[in-house]
Amino acid sequence: MPSVTVDVMNVWDERLPEFDNAAIDAKYKGVAGSAMNEAETGVWNRIKALVARFKQADRIVLGVPMWNFAYPYKLKQLIDLVSQRNMLFTFDGERFGPLLKTPRAMVIYTRGQEYREDLPTPPSWKTKPSWAIVAGADRIINPDLERWYYARAHSHTIELEGASHSVYESRPKEVAALIEEAAQKSQN
Ligand SMILES: Cc1cc2nc3c(=O)[nH]c(=O)nc-3n(C[C@H](O)[C@H](O)[C@H](O)COP(=O)(O)O)c2cc1C
Repeated sequence: MPSVTVDVMNVWDERLPEFDNAAIDAKYKGVAGSAMNEAETGVWNRIKALVARFKQADRIVLGVPMWNFAYPYKLKQLIDLVSQRNMLFTFDGERFGPLLKTPRAMVIYTRGQEYREDLPTPPSWKTKPSWAIVAGADRIINPDLERWYYARAHSHTIELEGASHSVYESRPKEVAALIEEAAQKSQN
């Protein structure tokens, strides 16, 4: 298993700064390199710290639950904050360019609405390869049910003995390694 360091950025715990007047003024002063007042400096330092975590990453995985047909507003707030010229991207007046070293990002979407087999949009698990973890000590979903789901979907499955329902928090290294494997093998 490759050794993985996981930095979890939970948008709900980050106390993301508002994208308010100070943030907007800081953004333009940051690009122009002009002096900022205290409020602008404060928000700009927070933005730089968030950006630094994206820049440090070799891989970025976004886990995104569907909320009201879209992604949660906190994620949009994060995107607004970190999408800064000359930090995560370049713009020369004509072209945009990337500044992250990640070869690709992976986004995992979940939704609460059912995936019935006779829906006009059939569930992807029927035809697309999938990877799955049985959390051996899951007390929210019975591990036998997990095994059944994964067998039905012909998922590449691993089992983590003693792992809780929040397996991504209790066993982040194994989860990250499986995501890495999934990303490698589903490149085509
Ligand atoms: C405020 C809110 C809005 C949501 N809106 C949708 C929605 O529009 N469609 C949907 O399929 N699920 C919706 N959900 C369910 C989430 O997608 C679901 O909670 C997510 O997949 C995570 O699964 P879990 O709650 O079982 O961990 C919503 C959940 C919340 C909290």
